Amino acid sequence: MKVHKPILSQIPIALKSIFEDGYYADKVIERHFKMSRGKWGSRDRKFFAESVYDIVRWYRRINESLPKPHQNDFSAITEAYLGLKEIDYPSIESFVGVNAQFFKEAYDSSNDFGVVASYPDWIIERVYKECGKEKGEHILNAMNTQAPLYLRVNPLKGTCEQVMQSLKSEGIDAQIVQTSDSALIIQNRKNVFVTQAFKSGMFEVQDLGSQAIAPFLQPSPKQRVLDLCAGAGGKTLHLAQLMENKGKIVATDIHERKLTELKRRARRNQVDLIETRLAENKWFKRQKGKMDRILLDVPCSGLGVIKRNPDTKWKLQEDRISELIDIQRGILKQAAPMIKPEGKLVYSTCSILPSENQEQVKWFLETHEGWDLEEEVSLLPHENNTDGFYMARLKLVK
Ligand SMILES: C[S@@+](CC[C@H](N)C(=O)[O-])C[C@H]1O[C@@H](n2cnc3c(N)ncnc32)[C@H](O)[C@@H]1O
Repeated sequence: MKVHKPILSQIPIALKSIFEDGYYADKVIERHFKMSRGKWGSRDRKFFAESVYDIVRWYRRINESLPKPHQNDFSAITEAYLGLKEIDYPSIESFVGVNAQFFKEAYDSSNDFGVVASYPDWIIERVYKECGKEKGEHILNAMNTQAPLYLRVNPLKGTCEQVMQSLKSEGIDAQIVQTSDSALIIQNRKNVFVTQAFKSGMFEVQDLGSQAIAPFLQPSPKQRVLDLCAGAGGKTLHLAQLMENKGKIVATDIHERKLTELKRRARRNQVDLIETRLAENKWFKRQKGKMDRILLDVPCSGLGVIKRNPDTKWKLQEDRISELIDIQRGILKQAAPMIKPEGKLVYSTCSILPSENQEQVKWFLETHEGWDLEEEVSLLPHENNTDGFYMARLKLVK
């Protein structure tokens, strides 16, 4: 395969932004797309994004297979990766001439799981300790694959068939996901955000696992629902549709800019039952016993969505997990008094760690009287072909 030199030379630049300057891979890729508008075709963009994601995903394995002087050199890493993919690259001045034979042998011969699966040692140890070695390795391996592109159809605007048809007229093939009544899958990644169907609010992009969370809360029309960690509203919009746009959803978050984005998305989806407000203890205190349903889609380590965000491997620090566990408990504590008797609360994360999941729910039940655990579900990447998610539904029984 031949790829144009200007595209290749952008890869090490993107890697520097991700690894040295700390930007998220998806944002960096978006920026490169913007800079090259009108110059790169859709195949070029796809190649660039896949290469950057792949290198981030396999960074440790590629890097540690290079001769020492070339390690952590983004040009050498790019060159080695392109060699692995058997891509002809015109010689680029800044490239260093990695010894391909030496590299290939080292790449294929390591038997250290951390190197082969390309995760930092602390993540391997933590996952072994919390999930067991065998299951842990299955999970970590499954998260090294590329995430499929799932859409969630907005039933207020059309059916799955109508969305499929509209996408087809713009050259995009989508298929129905048999296990869901509102999900479509796109095998051949395309930019769906430019389609007419997206612009008119007929679907949102959302992982299949994430699509299971709003229905799990069992919302109904006319209820009063709080989505306490609403972010940009992926699940708020889903709740709104399940409630047929009737009743009230209060969506809170600590970041105003996310709520602004949520409002924009709600307009596109044509739902008007959502009120956004900055998360504020004073307001929460006034809501005592007022909510039929509460969704706590809490901030977490993200150790279930590495397929989608491979840079989490290198950016997450172990100390952060203990901080997050405290934050999650704080949010549970803050939310509990707002539920009505017989009301239901869902606690969810995109982590595969029991310390952020089952153990948090166990702690909640031990420290809060009158609550029952109705149901809990763990979606694991190697079993469900989704991202890793956890959800628990708790009911206030007295
Ligand atoms: C997992 S994300 C939510 C994703 C969102 N529910 C969705 O479906 O797109 C967690 C969110 O919690 C917010 N957050 C963090 N700490 C919070 C707190 N103490 N109270 C409320 N929200 C918080 C973060 O800003 C982030 O948007």
